[in-house]
Amino acid sequence: MSMNDHLENNDGADSARKRIVVVGSDGRLGRSLVEALEQRHSVTSFGRKALELSSPGSITGALDALDYDHLFLTGALTAVDYCETHETEAYEVNAGGPGRIAEISAAKGAHMTYISTDFVFDGLKHESYDETDDVNPISVYGASKLEGERRVLAVSSGNLVARVSWVFGPGRPAFPEWIIQQACAKAELTLPGNKSGCPTYTLDLIGWLVALTLDRSNGPASGVHHLCNSDSCTWRDWGQFCIDTARDAGFPVLAKEIEGVPVESVAAFVAKRPMNSVLDTGKFTRLTDIRPRSWREALREHVMQNILLPE
Ligand SMILES: NC(=O)c1ccc[n+]([C@@H]2O[C@H](COP(=O)([O-])OP(=O)(O)OC[C@H]3O[C@@H](n4cnc5c(N)ncnc54)[C@H](OP(=O)(O)O)[C@@H]3O)[C@@H](O)[C@H]2O)c1
Repeated sequence: MSMNDHLENNDGADSARKRIVVVGSDGRLGRSLVEALEQRHSVTSFGRKALELSSPGSITGALDALDYDHLFLTGALTAVDYCETHETEAYEVNAGGPGRIAEISAAKGAHMTYISTDFVFDGLKHESYDETDDVNPISVYGASKLEGERRVLAVSSGNLVARVSWVFGPGRPAFPEWIIQQACAKAELTLPGNKSGCPTYTLDLIGWLVALTLDRSNGPASGVHHLCNSDSCTWRDWGQFCIDTARDAGFPVLAKEIEGVPVESVAAFVAKRPMNSVLDTGKFTRLTDIRPRSWREALREHVMQNILLPE
């Protein structure tokens, strides 16, 4: 089921116009989320200039006077290597700010959704991770996001934590745009072949978030849920599919086969990354009856519809 199915075909669910706040609306997910929700709801959104997550005063100033039913927090300090050397800031933005937002939202009786990450896991498991698996972050980014999860759920167990991974979509460029640009510039490319995960398409994710919150006739879901597209892959395989799809779409791709290399050989990485962070979305499917489509299908749609051919 696509995002539009959720936004337009809402049989049996509470279709009333809701008052929604999105914090982080300049980001990749935040911007698309606002665009989608505005079609059916009353949305107030805050980018970083209007709401600084590391400043309790800024958060209070932005939210205190507002009345709302749901708040989606998509804003975060997402630069994994930057977080590693800016620990205090990472915790303030990814945990302190979210905790404060949860307190304000709870005082208004509003439901809150916190977007989290696969980086809460250490990556040593050989199978996919479900919501009952032990967390053990190996980076400051992962640890700060885990602390954010805990604070948001400590304020209200009715809140929702959605862990996502390898996010891509319209707006701010992500891995697919980067690797396609690289493949158009160079014939030889390498990517880690020993690191696995699941890409998540923002436009699909928005449909799943709506299904878990606004469209649920018996109230929004709570607790931790894993959300990503189906089928796992290595970084190398993800990159290969991106450039093959781009070639099919007419991009002047020079690189043919991306060589798989160990992630340990990527000198630019400051922070450790989980080797395996494949997320199991079974809990979400059991609750909503929605099976996320394959990331390949979503990626093909993204390349064809959202990435512009170079002039
Ligand atoms: N991207 C991924 O691969 C990935 C993977 C797993 C989980 N996630 C999670 O998914 C969510 C959405 O990610 P995304 O891809 O949309 O990330 P994004 O494009 O980096 O968006 C994050 C937004 O948060 C804003 N922000 C950063 N620091 C802030 C601060 N101190 N105060 C207020 N706003 C601040 C950023 O502002 P600027 O516009 O100034 O940068 C940006 O607009 C995040 O919670 C992230 O942790 C992402």
